[in-house]
This record gives sequence, C-alpha cells and structure tokens, in this order.
Amino acid sequence: MAEPKKLFIKTYGCQMNVYDSERMAEAMGAQGYVTTETAEEADMILLNTCHIREKASEKVYSELGRLKPLKTLNPDLKIGIAGCVAQAEGEEIMRRAPVVDLVVGPQSYHRLPAMEARVRAGERALDTDFPAEDKFEHLPKRPRPNRAPTAFLTVQEGCDKFCAFCVVPYTRGAEVSRPATRILTEARDLVERGVREITLLGQNVNAYHGEAADGGTWGLARLIRELAEIDGLARIRFTTSHPNDMDDDLIAAHGDCGKLMPYLHLPVQSGSDRILKAMNRKHTAADYLRLIDRLRAARPDILLSGDFIVGFPGETDQDFEDTLSLVRAVGYGQAYSFKYSARPGTPAAERAGVPTDVADARLQVLQALLTQQQRETQDAMVGREVSVLFEKPGRLPGQMVGKSEYLHAVHVTGEVAVGQIARVRITGTAPNSLAGALI
Ligand code: SAH
Ligand code: SF4
Ligand code: F3S
Repeated sequence: MAEPKKLFIKTYGCQMNVYDSERMAEAMGAQGYVTTETAEEADMILLNTCHIREKASEKVYSELGRLKPLKTLNPDLKIGIAGCVAQAEGEEIMRRAPVVDLVVGPQSYHRLPAMEARVRAGERALDTDFPAEDKFEHLPKRPRPNRAPTAFLTVQEGCDKFCAFCVVPYTRGAEVSRPATRILTEARDLVERGVREITLLGQNVNAYHGEAADGGTWGLARLIRELAEIDGLARIRFTTSHPNDMDDDLIAAHGDCGKLMPYLHLPVQSGSDRILKAMNRKHTAADYLRLIDRLRAARPDILLSGDFIVGFPGETDQDFEDTLSLVRAVGYGQAYSFKYSARPGTPAAERAGVPTDVADARLQVLQALLTQQQRETQDAMVGREVSVLFEKPGRLPGQMVGKSEYLHAVHVTGEVAVGQIARVRITGTAPNSLAGALI
C-alpha cells in the first residue's frame, strides 16, 4: 500500500479557526491524508489564517517565505491558505504569492477535497464563496475516539454587529445559527467519543437563535439547558459573547445550570462612552457594569475575562482613564488587550489615529493593571478546593495538567487519568497556572 499523504495545518487566530482546522483535517482524512506536526514532511501545508489585526496577515506572507524552499525539496508539496486572510485577501494572495496553490474561505472549506484534486491535477484553486449550502452537512462524520476530553463545537458563525474596527462581519459573513438538533447530535456524538467538556463557539455565540425540532427558535440559554441533559457531558462553556446579547435567561443559567462553568469572556473594548459610541458597540460602560452586577448576583464566584482595544481613533487620555476605571470596577480574572490596528474596509480605518507611542504607552499601563488583577485572582485561589478536568500529562514526571471550573490550568502530581474530574486543593500559583494537590 502506498504511504498516506501528509497534511500539516498551522492555525492562527481564534477558537473558531481551531475548530475549522480539525474539520479540515478530517475532510482531508477522507481523501487519505494523515496529519503531521512537521511542515518538512508534509505533502500539503494549510495555513488557517486570522485577519483581525495587521500583523496577522503580514505573518502569513513571512510564513510563506519560510515555506517556499520546501517546494524545492518536495516537488509534490502543495500549499493552501484558509481562514479569514484567505477570505479577505484571497485574490491578492494568489497574485502576490505564486507559491500558493489554493485559497479557501471559512465558509467553503467543505469543498477542500475537490479543490485538492484540482490542485493535484496542476491547477490553482480559489474558493471564497459564501455558499448557500450548509458546510457542516457536507463534512465527514467525526472520527472516534476524540483526541482529548474537551472539544469545541461551533454553534453560530459570522457577525451582524459591525463594530467600527472589526473585519469579522466581512471575513465570516452574516450571523448564522446552526439548527439546535444538529448541535445536540454533534454534542452527543462528542460525548460518545469520550468528551466531557464542550465549549460552544461563535463570533457572537450568545446571539445564537437556532431552529429547534418543535419549529420554534432556541436562544443560547435554552440550548445550554438541553445540552446539560446529556449524560456523560460534565461541563459546558461558551465563547465569545457580546454584552448586548446577555439575556435574562443566559444570566440565570449561570446561577442554576450546574454544568455551565463559572467563567465568562465578555469583551467590552473600552470604558469610555464616547469611544464605545464611536466603536458602534451600542452600549455604555454603565450598561456593562450593571450586567456584571447581575451576573455576579446569579453566580458570585464567576471569573470574568474581557478584550480591550487601546488607541482607537479619537481616544483621549480621559477616555483611556475611563477604561482603567472600568477595569478596576470589574476586577478581571484574566483579559486580552490590544493596540488598535486599522483594518482596510472598516469604518474606523478612515479616521485619524492616535500616535503610536501614545497607544503603546497606554497598552503597557493597561496590561500591567490586567496582569495585576490576574495575579490577585490566582493568589486568592490558594487554599481553595476546585474541580479539575485532567487533559494531559504535565512536563515533569508524574505530573498531570487540567483545567479548573474557572479555566485556570492546574498541575498536580499523582494518580489521575486523562478525562477524569477530581477535587484538588490549590497550593500555589505561577504566572499562568496553579499548582494543586489531589484531595
Ligand atoms: N466577537 C467578539 C470578538 C472578536 S475579535 C466580540 O465582539 O467581542 C477578538 C478581539 O480582537 C476583539 O474583542 C477586539 O478586542 C480585538 N480586535 C478586533 N479588531 C481589532 C482591531 N482592528 N484592532 C485591534 N484589536 C481588534
Ligand atoms: Fe467584531 Fe464586533 Fe462582531 Fe465582535 S461583535 S465579531 S468585535 S464586529
Ligand atoms: Fe481571526 Fe477570523 Fe477568528 S479574523 S479572530 S480567525 S474569526
């Protein structure tokens, strides 16, 4: 038998891309490809790209520069670009980078096997359609067992919010929710494959409104409650959410659905009402703080995470101070912060920017504050009992690593299996993880 062809996928960007990479690997698996961790031995390389910030697409071109010599070593090597840069700049990539054999967008990758066949026949292929058919219905059944006890499950794609800085509505298209029955089937299947924790994904996951079997429409909270009925599924998470879509039922679910984990990533971007308006976020800082109060009333120990942009066009020192005040008022367990990056085609790209050195300085101040809050949150865990879902062996002999309900990485030394959930007492903290002892 001939050796199977090897596929190397490098994934950039958000969890949606991680999920898509898995599904692309499975689609190519049906064509006889096995995945490899080394680009050097691949017969096909796919870069699953992200377009969210400027450096992201520059990274793609520099990666292509590094990969180019591999084609001399292996004349059969094919290189493809998938994901959001493919969607936004596919034609330009084809022009600028002859080394690229195929370009496939995030909504059309179920067609990847057919494109691969064309590429093997010597063509170059580009598909950045938003097809009418549902790609999930054209992807192969997922293999078993699952590689890990945790899994992502995309339930919603695209975005209709059009924040003034963001490319997602253009690269991922309009907001679409998958039918609830399909999601329940995929979730049950994941659980049969050994998965114990599912993270529901969407660019705006809490805007989910999927068609249900009874002909009605379910919101995210209803979907979570139904998923919680699945025996063997122990934990449910979801990301990423928009403040305006945190409805009463979803807030309540954080208090009364035991399988929904006490962790919420709820980006606010800025604490200044002036800037929030300019960003087209359609809520105020006070609205966000009220929401946080309601979430904490429902689930007092919920760990909050967020995203922030500094240096948005027009941001003054006072606007930035307002962001710092909001951060102090919330107290984040962890968060991401970015320097504003002008994205072609977005409304904010037309506006005069903040000087780079000012934005850099603000980013440093904000990151110092967020890091301090993260450290305080972790320090407060020491001595507490948490439950940990173990995911893999740690770096040290006998060590195992898993995640607590609060999504902290926790290391223990002891007899515990991958996929097991065990009670752990936290004994210490490191910059991005906790140490614990099995109880
Ligand atoms: N759907 C999510 C976020 C998707 S993008 C939401 O609405 O919150 C992830 C994060 O990247 C955003 O929350 C934002 O903080 C950041 N981001 C998006 N566009 C950006 C840009 N042009 N410059 C800098 N950061 C950006
Ligand atoms: Fe981008 Fe805003 Fe949509 Fe989030 S809500 S994906 S930031 S446009
Ligand atoms: Fe990036 Fe696309 Fe995700 S732009 S953040 S990979 S939706």
